[in-house]
Amino acid sequence: MGRTRLVAGALALLVGACTTSTEQARDRPTSTASTSTEPTTTSTTARTRTPPTTTPWATTPATTDTRPASDSAGDPLFPGLGNSGYDVEHYELHLDTRGSGLTATATLTLTALAPLERFNLDLVGLTVDAITVDGNAAADFSRSGRELVVQPATTIAVGATARVTIAYHGEPELIDDPSGPVGLGWYERSEQSFVLAEPLGGATWFPANDHPQDKATFDLRIIVEPGDVAVGPGILAARSELPDGTAYLWQMRQPMATYLASVVTGRFDLVEQAPVGATQIRHALPSGYDADTIEQLAVTADLLTIFTDWFGPYPFDSYGVAIVDIRASQALALENQTLSVLSVDLFDAPLADFAARVQAHELAHQWFGNHVSPRRWDDIWLNEGFATWAEYHWAENHSPGREQEQGIDRYQNLDYGPLKGFPPEDLFDTRMYRRGALTLEALRRTIGHEPFLALCRAWVERFGGTSATTQDFFDLVAERHGSSAQDLVRSWVFDEVMPQLPPEQS
Ligand code: ARG
Ligand code: ZN
Repeated sequence: MGRTRLVAGALALLVGACTTSTEQARDRPTSTASTSTEPTTTSTTARTRTPPTTTPWATTPATTDTRPASDSAGDPLFPGLGNSGYDVEHYELHLDTRGSGLTATATLTLTALAPLERFNLDLVGLTVDAITVDGNAAADFSRSGRELVVQPATTIAVGATARVTIAYHGEPELIDDPSGPVGLGWYERSEQSFVLAEPLGGATWFPANDHPQDKATFDLRIIVEPGDVAVGPGILAARSELPDGTAYLWQMRQPMATYLASVVTGRFDLVEQAPVGATQIRHALPSGYDADTIEQLAVTADLLTIFTDWFGPYPFDSYGVAIVDIRASQALALENQTLSVLSVDLFDAPLADFAARVQAHELAHQWFGNHVSPRRWDDIWLNEGFATWAEYHWAENHSPGREQEQGIDRYQNLDYGPLKGFPPEDLFDTRMYRRGALTLEALRRTIGHEPFLALCRAWVERFGGTSATTQDFFDLVAERHGSSAQDLVRSWVFDEVMPQLPPEQS
């Protein structure tokens, strides 16, 4: 696909790092169509909003929740999402993907944070066949929208741990993305399936507490047709041939948000590259992939080394990408945990030089977004800002094509609104990426490069494995660099008019 066509299609079809790469297409000096689409001066429209002085989103963590079980995790952006009253520690998913649709059981190990006379899970579509709680048939269960309401035979006491098993089957259906044109959930293609769930689509393929404030470990046992492959998050713990299929057991041993859980199945090759330290590198490439693709993935090892140096140890056991068949939506990417999804068109020749940047972006998300997850969806700038900052900083200083790169400061005169207080459709707005990255760059230029990277490492170390708020970030900045540094970050997050980027320190 030629660059011109990409540029023409980009604005209509932005999805995620699709945003990232297509933006880059527009940014390239050789692409005249691109640069002319952007304003070059700051808008002077009257803007009077002042930063809020309170931070109502800084709620207490779910683990201290004593509210009765309810059908919501309390996320103001997506009120129906997730549930309260319990904390899931582990998901064991058995998915038989042979034939059409899924035949599955999900066993959730959960701890009650409130007395659970009834509790809710999220599940979209699919047919529930049976539910047991600690081996006993549930007294009742019912469906309403994306809520699956379970009534155990006896109330689960506060602090008690229960194993809830749900048998279900059906064809997963995609749901509308509030912030983009491409459906969310489990995609079925003629030769493969894959998952694009962020933010709401986890529940299209398994019953879940589908909100990033409740992260859990996962075991995924997937059965595929003979000759097909299944790749999931983490490590391959077992693979066995059945008389009429192959079973794969993938284990994610570190906490994972439900929106980042994924599996790809079908005509893939599981391709390993040399490990980096203790991190296994394995990719899911469509069978018949070519040598160029492998060459373009060689950057993975360099990126892992550099990001480990900047951000601290890679948080998981493995990393790799799955290249999936979603050409129609153009240059799409999503940072599924340990197995980022990249659309196959990213590897078409004209886009090849963007593919490395997108890989940098998705890998950076493994620290920022995946290991440290957003406590609420309106903390998304922490995901996209860090990933975009890492992408730009790598591209400018370390990428093979770095002499072509323009600095991130090219965006400083653009008019990007605040990073907090936005409607659901703006969740992946360009400003989350660019103003988010500029926020961090402004902080780096103020406190210095090495102290900035030390701050990044402290953030990951303190909140890794959990989810964190924007207020948590402000607090860490204040703790390490004082209230003026915190004020700077707050202005970048809240001010109606975007602040000026300070000059690079010499
Ligand atoms: N996190 C993805 C990326 O890197 C973007 C996901 C977009 N998702 C969506 N539902 N529109 O950049
Ligand atoms: Zn991103």
